[in-house]
Amino acid sequence: MKIHKHDAIIIGAGGAGLMAALYASKGGADVAVVSKLYPTRSHTGTAQGGIGAALGNLDEDKPIYHTYDTVKGGDYLTDQAAAKILAENAVDAVIELEHMGLPFDRTSAQRISQRRFGGHTRNFGEELVRRACHAADRTGHMILQTLYQQCIKNDVSFFDEFQVVDMIVVDGALAGVVAIELGTGEFHIFHGKASFFATGGWGRCWSVTSNAHSLTGDGAAIALRRGVPLQDMEFFQFHPTGIYRMGILITEGVRGEGGVLINSQGERFMERYAPSAKDLASRDVVSRAIYLETRAGRSIKNRGYVHLDIRPATVNRYFAEEGRARADFIDDATVERKLPDILDFCRTYLGVDPVKEPMPVQPTAHYAMGGIPTNVDAEVLLDAAGSVMPGAYAAGETACVSVHGANRLGTNSLVDLVVFGRRGGMKMAEFARSADWLPLPADAGHAIQAEFERIRKSGGQSRPGELRAQMQATMMDNVGVFRTQETLQQGIDDLAALRERFHQDLRIDDKARVFNTDLMEAWELGCLLDLADVTARAALERKESRGAHSREDFQARDDQNWLVHSLVGHDGNLANPDYTLNFDKKVDLSLWEAEEAQGTPEDQQKFRPRERVY
Ligand code: FUM
Repeated sequence: MKIHKHDAIIIGAGGAGLMAALYASKGGADVAVVSKLYPTRSHTGTAQGGIGAALGNLDEDKPIYHTYDTVKGGDYLTDQAAAKILAENAVDAVIELEHMGLPFDRTSAQRISQRRFGGHTRNFGEELVRRACHAADRTGHMILQTLYQQCIKNDVSFFDEFQVVDMIVVDGALAGVVAIELGTGEFHIFHGKASFFATGGWGRCWSVTSNAHSLTGDGAAIALRRGVPLQDMEFFQFHPTGIYRMGILITEGVRGEGGVLINSQGERFMERYAPSAKDLASRDVVSRAIYLETRAGRSIKNRGYVHLDIRPATVNRYFAEEGRARADFIDDATVERKLPDILDFCRTYLGVDPVKEPMPVQPTAHYAMGGIPTNVDAEVLLDAAGSVMPGAYAAGETACVSVHGANRLGTNSLVDLVVFGRRGGMKMAEFARSADWLPLPADAGHAIQAEFERIRKSGGQSRPGELRAQMQATMMDNVGVFRTQETLQQGIDDLAALRERFHQDLRIDDKARVFNTDLMEAWELGCLLDLADVTARAALERKESRGAHSREDFQARDDQNWLVHSLVGHDGNLANPDYTLNFDKKVDLSLWEAEEAQGTPEDQQKFRPRERVY
């Protein structure tokens, strides 16, 4: 196997990976980015509506309000110190992106323009605030292009279309990773002092998802198999507005610009579920409302979708009822200018023109709140006590810092990428300056090569596409927006049967080595099955409802017993693993504790877990 040696290896070239690469290289490290995609095709590029930062360019805003919204939006499972770092660092991170050349939209005073998003408020929930900094509805795309240019300028090495498939662990520390060069099928070893996982999420476990085909959770699955427990896997966010049946994201920015959700009776139904925030309530609330409307027989044509209406006549009518300023009113040109990609998707894929007709939308599997546990410097944690795995780092969706708690606030994914990517990059550079090279074991990469040979030569009856479709169906039906003991057990049983077929009865048709997508997709399916399994198991054990985890058989949030993080571990036996699942990791409630220590009366303690009101 060819061996590449770099101080810092970054796995994944989305926003977190590129920010880490940039800052590790600025810190003097020799950096290689290893990515299964060409970097600017990474999934960060699909993030639409904005990146949250309390710039206060249009409304009064402060990082402490952003911190509060992040903690409250996460249904208090958010680690509070991490939320504070996120909100405070967001401001200079956005300005830094602007100075790197990111073409944000502008206000009339030529400042960065900001729009409303769900759960973004000023003065601790008093009223909605414009906080999402945007570049039309292509904000993630612009971030990705900007960071890639900066990395090139900073001499970061790129290994494009090299897919990382294993970690090399030496005496409990990370010595590098094993990758397949997709164009040749050859295995390579990347020997690093520090390795950083930024491989994104695993929305492809579900059949309706906003996630690209490549979002198969590789990093989290590899870490799990190599002894890193995964945190808070039961929390997976459904974004309320995916294109009906396709799942492609329709940005919350549509509702931020005034768009409303309408059922088959023509009602703006969010007025009933969230009288104050209405269509801009947090995503868990809006997704559940759409399902409840469907159950009540009020979805459009009884097909499980509702309408999202951004037609100026509709929006302006509601603005007038709400007494909004004339300057907020929109016309066709505003919609065309602010939401060009959304219009393009709907016109292209649906033949629907959102300026003239409402868009058919349904909740779509969108974002993993859980993942590889880290501290606020992106160092990977091995247990509830916070023991660090030397040389291992992670940030972005594959990681759980935990800044999103039980439900991520819109726009905070992009903030997470740049804030914790940057902190992790700096920490890696510092580590690489003093750490010694760990010697590579003689058999490095052998076990994963053997697993790939098993898959390549498999001659059973079960094709990956068929197993994948069945996994996605059971996850959608049983481990989706609403859950019960019965559905979750059904999900676990279905997944056990699928895993058995994956390990005993798999069949792939392409036996070649060069660009063998059949082989790679089969291996990725194994990752998805592992992550689906631990998601369902953690969800079964958490006997309460919190954020995106909504148990119909345990409808209340139960802070007495469940205000804790879950950690699920795997014994490394791929075919028939033993899992450990515990709820021992404490939530960081430091902001609330500080308020108590100051003697703040209970009703004024902003960060005290309390029931959410919309
Ligand atoms: O709705 C959106 O534009 C998505 C943003 C996000 O997930 O943060």
